[in-house]
Amino acid sequence: MGDRRRDALLQIGLAIGSTVDIDALLNVVMGHVTALLSAERSTLYLVDRRRGEIWSKVLQGDGLREIRLPLGEGVAGDVVATGELANIPDAYLDRRFHPEFDKQSGFRTRSILCAPVTGKPGEVLGAVQVLNRSDGQPFDADDERAMMAVAAQIAVALENARLFSAERRKVKELDLLYSVERELAQAGDAGQLLDVTLSRATDLSNAEAGAALLLDEEKSELFFKNALGGAGAALLSARVPINAGIAGRVAVDGIPRIVHDAERESAVARELAQRFGYRSHSLCAAPIQSEGRILGVLELLNKRDGDFGDDDVKLLTMLGGQTGRALRLARDRAARERDERLRLLGQTIASVLHDLRSPLTVVQSYAELMADEPDKKQRLEYSEMVARQVLGINQMTREVLAYLRGESGFLPTQVHLDRFLGELREVLTRELTPKKIDLRIEQRTQCKIRIDEGKVKRAVINLARNAAEAMPDGGTFTISAWKDGERLVLSFADTGNGIPEAIRDKVFQPFVTEGKRDGTGLGLAIVKQVIEAHGGEIRFESTPGKGTTFTFSLPA
Ligand SMILES: Nc1ncnc2c1ncn2[C@@H]1O[C@H](COP(=O)(O)OP(=O)(O)OP(=O)(O)O)[C@@H](O)[C@H]1O
Ligand SMILES: [Mg+2]
Repeated sequence: MGDRRRDALLQIGLAIGSTVDIDALLNVVMGHVTALLSAERSTLYLVDRRRGEIWSKVLQGDGLREIRLPLGEGVAGDVVATGELANIPDAYLDRRFHPEFDKQSGFRTRSILCAPVTGKPGEVLGAVQVLNRSDGQPFDADDERAMMAVAAQIAVALENARLFSAERRKVKELDLLYSVERELAQAGDAGQLLDVTLSRATDLSNAEAGAALLLDEEKSELFFKNALGGAGAALLSARVPINAGIAGRVAVDGIPRIVHDAERESAVARELAQRFGYRSHSLCAAPIQSEGRILGVLELLNKRDGDFGDDDVKLLTMLGGQTGRALRLARDRAARERDERLRLLGQTIASVLHDLRSPLTVVQSYAELMADEPDKKQRLEYSEMVARQVLGINQMTREVLAYLRGESGFLPTQVHLDRFLGELREVLTRELTPKKIDLRIEQRTQCKIRIDEGKVKRAVINLARNAAEAMPDGGTFTISAWKDGERLVLSFADTGNGIPEAIRDKVFQPFVTEGKRDGTGLGLAIVKQVIEAHGGEIRFESTPGKGTTFTFSLPA
């Protein structure tokens, strides 16, 4: 073999080692092949076993169109079928040669050299072919050897590409399972979860489109919950009966399916194609299921590179299981939240009704007084009293409605200071006694306050925890309550080591924490937010080594 040939072969080897993009690689390789054999044209055929054909993956030369031949037909088809090299000095004398390709392209084929590309287990992957040795001579034994060497290189490249894509698929699969699992842990919204699932599944299976259908058991229908690619969002209005169509059957028996020509097999697919103008050919469908119950169906449509296979079904089935679990968790959680909301709502309504009772009693008594009151001025006064109560009732109604609509996370109700402090004493004693901290409560007034009780309690507990943390060797925590005009003032004093100088200006900012191992720095930020929601202000005084006092006011 000449130096030039060895060089060209080396180039091919280098190209194979340096790129994993198989299409680009084969183009480079085939360019070298034409030069290596001093031929006018070269073609790489690959086998398409599903269709029982070979097709021209790479064509080197002018004005060429894809060629497809049944296995066994034509020179290359015969080489692939027999696995034997063909060296033909004059094409027109060989019965395997199809002259119509020349007729179509205007090219005149003289000599042909065609070698099988054989993969590892002896499987023929394709054939590499060159036409017309430039010097007009037939290809010789030297050319045959070079051609076999090239074919072996190409086989390696194809194997590499196959391994690589299998590897990449595995990595992607793991990646997918992991990220779906993570979504699963926080699946608040079924739609979002299905979006992620579909985009990963279509990506990995190289499908043009995907859809997730959920089961509506009452109506025995499936409805399109998510759609990606293809007819897209337009599909979301569509419903299909279960037991009809491909997805419908999967929804009934839970068996994943591959269909090569969906529109031929299913009237539903034909109808959807007509309605939404997107044709489906190949289809892969698997159930979304959890604990033996089918919740819906995942579908992939139109694989870009050939047909759906076992790998795709496996992947989609796996995803269907994961998605099913996630959906069930999300539904359980939603149900739990609904129950919890209803319970809270019940409590809220009870306390609201309780609060309404007193202004209503006032209204009632003034109304009675008015009925018998002859003095006009006095009547006017009574009516003003009534109006004022009604104003209060309106205010309460507005607050309750805003809360129920979710516009405010804040619902004040009327609370007796006695009871409020009594309950705080209970909670805080439990919290502070084990830490050798004395709890004192100095109540210098009696009144009712209008607060969101749960929130204020939590704020006070935050203050008490901070205080306890500032008194690692024990001390005293004193709550004082007094009236200042229309408002109730509360103060919380500890005998701890004081707020560190460095953070005094920003203790109320979130994530500011100092001197604690597990502090998140949210405690005081929350306290501030709660107090401000009650129209109050919070401030503090702090002396190093002596203690800290927080003070705020609440509406009374
Ligand atoms: N009563 C107090 N005495 C001394 N320092 C305090 C007191 N209250 C707060 N601090 C200081 O202010 C910082 C911020 O308090 P904050 O409650 O916001 O966060 P944290 O207690 O660090 O974390 P967490 O979010 O768990 O409450 C604390 O880290 C602490 O250094
Ligand atoms: Mg804290």
